[in-house]
Amino acid sequence: METEESFTDKIRKHIEFEESTAKLCAATSKKLDNAVAKMLLTEMQLDSTKHAHILEEVLNTVEKAPPTRLWDYRISSFVDTGVMKKTLEKHLEVELKMLKKVEEMIKTTEDEALKLLLEHIAEDERKHHKIIKTVIRKAHILTK
Ligand SMILES: [Fe+2]
Ligand SMILES: [Fe+2]
Repeated sequence: METEESFTDKIRKHIEFEESTAKLCAATSKKLDNAVAKMLLTEMQLDSTKHAHILEEVLNTVEKAPPTRLWDYRISSFVDTGVMKKTLEKHLEVELKMLKKVEEMIKTTEDEALKLLLEHIAEDERKHHKIIKTVIRKAHILTK
């Protein structure tokens, strides 16, 4: 079985990997003379930076959290669950609306590159919608 320390080490290494990949994307993007290729490399650069940030937060939490499942780790015990649920449910609608708008744009353009870029955004919006659903389900259970 893996020790907790080796896993945090893996995360630390992966953060460095993401950061160097973000730099690689930026350097490659600079050399490209195709507008869409540049956009796609920039998208990847932002993704790598995002992955590094997420893992930084994981690392901060894992280092502070007692040895338990992360979903059980709570920052404060004073939360208005009613307000929290309403806020999240509103946000769920926002993400769905955003997805619908992007899907509409995908349908109304014939440009292959634009379709591809918008499809990437749509994938993110689908994921955001799913994330909020998970947060409602999991975070709400914990506050019961
Ligand atoms: Fe990544
Ligand atoms: Fe979104």
